[in-house]
Amino acid sequence: TPLFPMPADLEQPELNSNAETVLVKRYLRKDEEGLAKETPTELFWRVASSIAAEEAKYEKSPWKPEDLARTFYDMMINGLFLPNSPTLMNAGTPLGQLAACFVLPVPDSIEGIFDSLKHAALIHKSGGGTGFSFSRLRPAGARVGTTGGIASGPLSFMRIFNTATEQIKQGGVRRGANMGILRVDHPDIIEFITAKECEGEFNNFNLSVALTQEFMEQVEAGESYELYDPRDGRVRGRLEAAQVFDMLVQKAWASGDPGIIFLDRINRDNPTPAQGEIEATNPCGEQPLLPYEACNLGSVNLASFVTEDEKGVQTLNTEHLAEVVHLAVRFLDDVIDASIYPLDDIAEMVHKNRKIGLGVMGWADCLYALGIPYDSEEALELGEEIMDLVQRESRIASRLLAEERGAFPTYEESVYKKRGEGPYRNATTTTIAPTGTLSILAGCSSGIEPCFALSFTRNVLDGEKLVEVNPVFARFVERTVSDPAQQQAILDHVRRTGRLKDCPDAPEDLERVFRTAMDVSPWSHLAMQAAFQRFTDNAVSKTVNLPNEATEDDIREIYLEAYRQGVKGVTVYRDGSKTGQVLCTGEGA
Ligand code: CDP
Repeated sequence: TPLFPMPADLEQPELNSNAETVLVKRYLRKDEEGLAKETPTELFWRVASSIAAEEAKYEKSPWKPEDLARTFYDMMINGLFLPNSPTLMNAGTPLGQLAACFVLPVPDSIEGIFDSLKHAALIHKSGGGTGFSFSRLRPAGARVGTTGGIASGPLSFMRIFNTATEQIKQGGVRRGANMGILRVDHPDIIEFITAKECEGEFNNFNLSVALTQEFMEQVEAGESYELYDPRDGRVRGRLEAAQVFDMLVQKAWASGDPGIIFLDRINRDNPTPAQGEIEATNPCGEQPLLPYEACNLGSVNLASFVTEDEKGVQTLNTEHLAEVVHLAVRFLDDVIDASIYPLDDIAEMVHKNRKIGLGVMGWADCLYALGIPYDSEEALELGEEIMDLVQRESRIASRLLAEERGAFPTYEESVYKKRGEGPYRNATTTTIAPTGTLSILAGCSSGIEPCFALSFTRNVLDGEKLVEVNPVFARFVERTVSDPAQQQAILDHVRRTGRLKDCPDAPEDLERVFRTAMDVSPWSHLAMQAAFQRFTDNAVSKTVNLPNEATEDDIREIYLEAYRQGVKGVTVYRDGSKTGQVLCTGEGA
């Protein structure tokens, strides 16, 4: 598709220095010498125009592609919405692979396993991340039909995936990311749970154990459960459910790995069960997908919808938010068409279900601006209200797109059809991504996480370090603390420690609002995840932070409560725990 010439009067993006550094290092297109051959303005125009160009093939589109390109451009440079990294890097380039999330099947055969490995390499090369369920592989020690030998099991093959990943840089800029999943009733589950015990092992993998509802009931009832050979369903062993659960808890306490996902909960939200069961998620866990499915994500920055009236009162402009959600859905649906997929099987699956994942970032900054503590009922209620709006409006947008361009091809056999909803253009519309780099570009807090700190260190060019204070916080202090000396004392404390905790000069209500990840209880972390999950089609990326002194019992309670609250997975991180990992030598190290 021909791109449109860049209008001369485009507004320039305003980037803070961190955003600029990331953009230059990772996103701007480079020539053979590694020098940038586009400016930030050209990057955003490349993305906006190549995505908007897709409109031209839809006769009923109400947009002239040139006008839409401009609207998309403005939405991005004003920090309202950003698509996931591969779209920023590859849109309008010959590579053209625009999705962040993929799931690949791993069948129980040498050909199948190595096909999957090759496909993963192709996906990493194009900037995407891959998730796999290894649950279909026969357990270690099982017989191999063709040779009469002994199978080496999922873990040994995962090691090969890990090594291959090490060698391939994603889109030339970052190392590949993987998610490895094993069902709790696979005979090699214990080996899987302990796989990351040694530092550096499976360093290119996030691991998650897939728990079933039946297993959770067995834990609560103190029962044992059966392990099955995935090939024929024959029982290959038995374990005490509570013991395995304790082990998961212990590992999460010690290192944060592996995480857990609730498989039945995920499949309860599978919009196209006729297409198969969901067995895996993408690397960071927020996007459950069918084998060979891919999904492109995008995030609206909630902080950028907070407006201030003449009296300095802050409110969230929900009308503007709804408007941007509609545009973002159109954008992400166009991304599906614009993307070049690394495999025919993937292209086919993606075009059948047309999943997109619109989410939010800047949530903690938004709460700061509104003066609402992250760990309050008010924050949970507002979170639900906002995500309900994003979910509802994205569905409406998807329904309108279906009128314009047709429903996703498997709609007729989807749960929506059964429920008399739709038709929709997309099998899912919402996902909450971690927004690791996007939030840096937008200059906001990541995803729905609380801010990690109120100040951060910035490396300036000559090797000097500069400590900067969160701008929303700095403005709030300016507005609400009248004594300049007190203002100074508060800002100095924050520069030194990164938080307001134990700051003698800070008024109590200031400390109450400007909490950081470590000041917020694990229960509040979990409650926020659950609040957003209630209004999200796919899943929510969230880490439940615990203080160093948290116990295994605390983590057990978090896991059980997470199950009760209906979240799709849990990632915990106990402060300082990774450093406690043991160095292993010898086999597997
Ligand atoms: O902010 P950005 O778009 O770069 O990514 P993110 O929201 O932090 O992560 C979203 C998804 O991108 C992850 O769940 C992975 O599927 C993928 N990803 C990846 O493949 N490799 C990375 N190094 C980071 C993210």
